Amino acid sequence: MKQQQIRNFAIIAHVDHGKSTLADRLLNLTGTVSSRDMREQFLDSLDLERERGITIKLKSVRMTYQGYTLNLIDTPGHVDFSYEVSRSLAACEGAILVVDATQGIQAQTLAHVQKAQELGLTIIPVLNKIDLPTAYAEETKADLVSTFGFLDSDILAISAKTGAGVQELLTEIIKKIPAPTGLANEPLQALVFDSYYDEHQGVIAAIKVTAGQLSQTKMLAKHSGEAFDPIQIGVNSPKPTTVENLSTGEVGFVATGLKDLSAVRAGETLTTRDNPATQALPGYKEAKPVVFMSVYPNSGDDFLNLKKALEKLRLTDAALSFTPESSSALGFGYRVGFLGLLHSEIIGERLERDFGIALIYSLPSVAYEVTKTNGETEVINSPIDFPDPSILTEVREPWTMLSIIVPNQYLGPSLDLVKEHRGIIGEIKYFSASKVLVAAEMPLKELIIGFFDELKSVSSGFASLDYELGDYRAADVVKLNILVHNEVVPALSELIIRDQAEAEGRKILGRLKENLPRQQFAVSLQAAIGGHIIAREDLQTYRKDVLAKMSGGDQRRKDKLTDLQKRGKKKMRLIGKISIPADAYRKILAANS
Ligand code: GTP
Repeated sequence: MKQQQIRNFAIIAHVDHGKSTLADRLLNLTGTVSSRDMREQFLDSLDLERERGITIKLKSVRMTYQGYTLNLIDTPGHVDFSYEVSRSLAACEGAILVVDATQGIQAQTLAHVQKAQELGLTIIPVLNKIDLPTAYAEETKADLVSTFGFLDSDILAISAKTGAGVQELLTEIIKKIPAPTGLANEPLQALVFDSYYDEHQGVIAAIKVTAGQLSQTKMLAKHSGEAFDPIQIGVNSPKPTTVENLSTGEVGFVATGLKDLSAVRAGETLTTRDNPATQALPGYKEAKPVVFMSVYPNSGDDFLNLKKALEKLRLTDAALSFTPESSSALGFGYRVGFLGLLHSEIIGERLERDFGIALIYSLPSVAYEVTKTNGETEVINSPIDFPDPSILTEVREPWTMLSIIVPNQYLGPSLDLVKEHRGIIGEIKYFSASKVLVAAEMPLKELIIGFFDELKSVSSGFASLDYELGDYRAADVVKLNILVHNEVVPALSELIIRDQAEAEGRKILGRLKENLPRQQFAVSLQAAIGGHIIAREDLQTYRKDVLAKMSGGDQRRKDKLTDLQKRGKKKMRLIGKISIPADAYRKILAANS
């Protein structure tokens, strides 16, 4: 294949702006998928993705059009997968920027454009959904010009739904996006922009050849050091099809036969063992989970099933991490690390739906860095592991950089909300007559306890948000314990900022009170930091009214009965241990997410 005839590009867009619909149209118009075989959102093949309308896995598809090979590289649309987005963009020379003309520029539009620009991609700006009467194309066009410096004449107007303007877009792709560079006579360098697990072929790497030629030779993954002999080399057009080799600039896949997904991760560089490239490609990063939750099966019998299910999921998801954990109240479970909240929801849904395991989740937490008095540092991602404060000199928490785009009239409440969540407001930029871009910094913990939902609600649904992980900063973090009848319930413990501990404690106690079954004796519910009680509630007795049946009767008899009842209660209090039904946990914890 002639390198000059190749175009590698991605479609970048804010959620729901029409990326998948446009991909479908391109597959259609190039004859890659016939109209007869076309089903909606062809590239989103996983059931779950289809249902949620989001793209989780990256895929590439090869199209042929007017003698050119067009490789469309699909990118996930959500911030949890921003590393995968950056790797797939790194495999492209160009990007189609899709902006919904009824919505205008949104936070992820901005984030994607920034990434594409940093990687030096040629961007083709496209206004989508112009068939809709609510489209305000001219205003959105003006915003694109003023925000990103595009030329008015370079912006295309299309409807991915009806196909209007899509033919012109194909012509622009060929005309504007440069052919891949890279030297064909150098040793092989192939960028892995995605990898996934196949039961028959092991780990399959989606790749772009950036130098040399990829063929059936002994291969090596530069970062992991893993060696393998390819089982299959191929391209998706759109069905996987075997090819002899892939030359410089081409996009395709290599089936490695390896069993462990972490051996060939996104960002990895493949080369040959006989004539290896000296350099690995830049940009490789380890997947680092940032959000943690404990996950317990609703029924103890399901523990082994949970274990098997997590192991199976990890085969296809290198970013998922988990370690066993046990709790006297909830039995055996796992502490699971995720890339973000959406990632946790996807995994949770798969566990419950695909594997049929009912689960109880703990409150979400982040990873804290602690420095001890002996100078050691440690990463703590569970309240159970939080060291005694007396041996700590500092605790640091992860921060994020936020971009919020919000219509003018909701700016005030949005800024207030950022501040309420310990955020620091940075630059505020008015980039169109009606919208404002706010740059802010905020602790990740605040973001995962519902900030986005609150932002949506104070902006009547109009605000959009994107974030990137930043640095770790010192924080006054304490371990909040919840005691039921004077016993700590570890599953309800939480790492939290000292200033927020009391309010959070009261909230949990309130929920406990609502959801715990009453006992025949009063039960104290307490929130504590160390030995210091900061909030208290009492669960009233479920009082068998021993006097109810006695109408009238003499007072001495009544007193005697009440006395007996009191003594019985005392006895029960001594031996009584409260058991918290799994369902109550579910309600207490679910209300927090
Ligand atoms: P994510 O995968 O969630 O990021 O979404 P997406 O950007 O792939 O958007 P998708 O293609 O799923 O489109 C979102 C919705 O907009 C769907 O209901 C589409 O049918 C609709 N849509 C996309 N393009 C057009 C268009 O040109 N006109 C109209 N009227 N609707 C469109």
